[in-house]
Amino acid sequence: MACKAALSRWLLLLFWCAHLLLRSCSSEIHRSHFPPSFLFGTSTSAYQIEGGYLEGKKGLSNWDVFTHKQGTIEDGSNGDIAADHYHRYMEDIELMHSLGVNSYRFSIAWTRILPRGRFGDINPDGVAFYNQIIDALLQKGIQPFVTIFHYDIPHELEERYGGWLSPAIQKDFGYFAEVCFKMFGDRVKFWVTMNQPNLLAKFAYMDGWFPPSRCSKPFGNCVFGNSSKEPYIAAHNMILSHANAVSIYRNNYQKKQGGYIGISVGARWYEPLRNTTIDLLAVERAISFNVPWLCSSKQ
Ligand SMILES: *[C@@H]1O[C@H](CO)[C@@H](O)[C@H](O)[C@H]1NC(C)=O
Ligand SMILES: *[C@@H]1O[C@H](CO)[C@@H](O)[C@H](O)[C@H]1NC(C)=O
Repeated sequence: MACKAALSRWLLLLFWCAHLLLRSCSSEIHRSHFPPSFLFGTSTSAYQIEGGYLEGKKGLSNWDVFTHKQGTIEDGSNGDIAADHYHRYMEDIELMHSLGVNSYRFSIAWTRILPRGRFGDINPDGVAFYNQIIDALLQKGIQPFVTIFHYDIPHELEERYGGWLSPAIQKDFGYFAEVCFKMFGDRVKFWVTMNQPNLLAKFAYMDGWFPPSRCSKPFGNCVFGNSSKEPYIAAHNMILSHANAVSIYRNNYQKKQGGYIGISVGARWYEPLRNTTIDLLAVERAISFNVPWLCSSKQ
């Protein structure tokens, strides 16, 4: 993955979509067709845009280690600088403001807030960085939507207990989430605990494309891992980590801070090719392995 290029393209695409929606299509679609509270937004994730990978006392993440390992990224690129959002966030926020969006979803780099997970201190520089972003957004009338976890975990947690494969991660995630609620919850009213855990389980533990690059044949060709077992263990720990963070928020913060909390799950849809039992069952199975194995619509 050519991270840097992919990043800028992603941002461009987002901006272009917003642009289309707000400007070019204005003869058909008007802002006034939507309720005033309707949120139009852009979105990013920390590793994809921030760069500044060792600045402000940030700890090493799994992605830093992964992209720096020779041979993992085809063109040898990494996110050390990325879109340089770490230095240029004011410019980026100004760009969003000029597009007319009123929301922005971004993620918090776990390693900026807790360079060593719960095994070290809270990093005030990291907290200050996100405080500046949140304050600047609010000043421009842009609602911050915060993803607590978007695929980057402290490398230390990977080393200590194998990251998402260990139930120990549930405690670390709850601690990280609570630090976020404490530090930012007075101003952040929209929380996403994690980004697309179903895709992460697949990419990291079945296909082995994402760190920690674990898989087995015939799904992929990794040194370690088990594609028929580990994606389910990782997903299980992600579900319980999500539940832990949600219950911490509901029990201790929601009433006082008055925000919302949810999850983002990658969703695909399938239609049968023919109206036959075998095709209908195939569709049911394919859909089951997308969203339902992670979150059921039944309470
Ligand atoms: C993966 O784990 C399953 C269940 O423990 C086991 O049956 C299978 O042999 C393992 N596969 C590999 C490639 O290690
Ligand atoms: C599919 O087949 C069933 C049973 O033969 C029939 O009742 C149904 O109307 C068909 N659906 C479509 C979309 O053709």
